[in-house]
Amino acid sequence: MTIGIDQMGLYTPNFYIDLRELAQARGDDPDKYTIGIGQDQQAVAPSSQDVVTMGAAAARELTIDPERLGLIVVGTETGIDASKAAALTIQRLLGLNPWVRALEIKEACYGGTAGLMMARDYVAAHPERQALVIATDIARYGLATGGEVTQGAGAVAMLVTSNPRLLALADDSVHYAADIMDFWRPVYQDTALARGKYSTEQYLAFFERVWTQYQAQTGLTVADFAALCFHLPYTKMGLKALRLALPAADEAQQATLLARFDRSIQYSRRIGNIYTGSLYLGLLSLLELDDTLAAGARIGLFSYGSGAVGEFFSGTLVAGYATHLHRIDHAHLLDARAALSIPTYEQLFADKVPYGPADYTTNPAWFSGPFVLTGVVGQERQYQAN
Ligand code: COA
Repeated sequence: MTIGIDQMGLYTPNFYIDLRELAQARGDDPDKYTIGIGQDQQAVAPSSQDVVTMGAAAARELTIDPERLGLIVVGTETGIDASKAAALTIQRLLGLNPWVRALEIKEACYGGTAGLMMARDYVAAHPERQALVIATDIARYGLATGGEVTQGAGAVAMLVTSNPRLLALADDSVHYAADIMDFWRPVYQDTALARGKYSTEQYLAFFERVWTQYQAQTGLTVADFAALCFHLPYTKMGLKALRLALPAADEAQQATLLARFDRSIQYSRRIGNIYTGSLYLGLLSLLELDDTLAAGARIGLFSYGSGAVGEFFSGTLVAGYATHLHRIDHAHLLDARAALSIPTYEQLFADKVPYGPADYTTNPAWFSGPFVLTGVVGQERQYQAN
């Protein structure tokens, strides 16, 4: 029996900005954003979208067996309640089976991987069951901050089952954790605090550490991998990590890994950072845009969550995987989005649900997507199908 990812869903809000325009507005060279950082566009979430609405929209793409679903786990670092799990609201919005464990998991951008590994272990213990993993986030650093170019919004949903149809996960994870302050978000604010340069150094140090240990532990080398996917806070970050692994590969394999890496970053280049979902957005981009991968190909995945946890693991592609993807729907999701001018983006950025007890109404003019947050009444968030 294999265990792994059977289906993948994606959602990103209907609005984006062009990062060349953002660079101009901030007085930066556009090449810094598109080449130096490696981002072309950035998804913008209106206040009617949050981790619940986006997570529900991504999970709506999956065909879930109500009799078999036993676990719903949401990984997020931009949750909307310090106590209650977003998984419960998503469960209600999607009308999912109530005979489940439903919870939210947190460790910065590592939360999606934590959820995936919990789901894998759950299905290993209960092979008839299915587990729904949702990685959903809105990355906000603030207007005109160093991190602004690495913002984004979106969600990836994964159904984990036995005998999966996309990616069979190997039981080969190597994980490493250490208490560092490279990125965090105090509970009283909605923008992250980041020691930008330090966080990039730590990301690379964690990658080197777990990748070295992984090779020692499994006996595998870079030659055993058809592709490597990375957590993508911005796509240049993943490229820097890939470059650490490349020298051990021969010339032909280096070219293959670089070409496939390029396919794995295309969705991120257009959506931006979705924190917990970024690694899985990269995997989805690779699977949907690459037509050179064969069944049995081994894909390596590096997950990093500031604070910090790093994990390297792998999976092998299942025969026929391409027929279970939603490639055309996702092309449409991205192509149908509306471009915002920078002043309009700045207005939307400022229009946020306050961190306070007052009632709040989101603007119906910006409603889009299958689910919306209409506002907050008596300190309770109000959601509805759109
Ligand atoms: N043309 C092409 N490239 C250019 C350029 C230009 N005109 N100007 C600058 N660059 C390159 C730089 O050389 C650099 O490339 P390198 O990293 O390969 O050396 C890159 O663009 C970024 O420039 P830099 O000056 O380092 O950017 P910055 O000081 O604005 O900071 C981050 C970048 C990522 C640190 C910042 O966006 C941030 O804090 N992000 C949030 C934290 C984060 O994402 N951390 C990741 C780990 S989780």
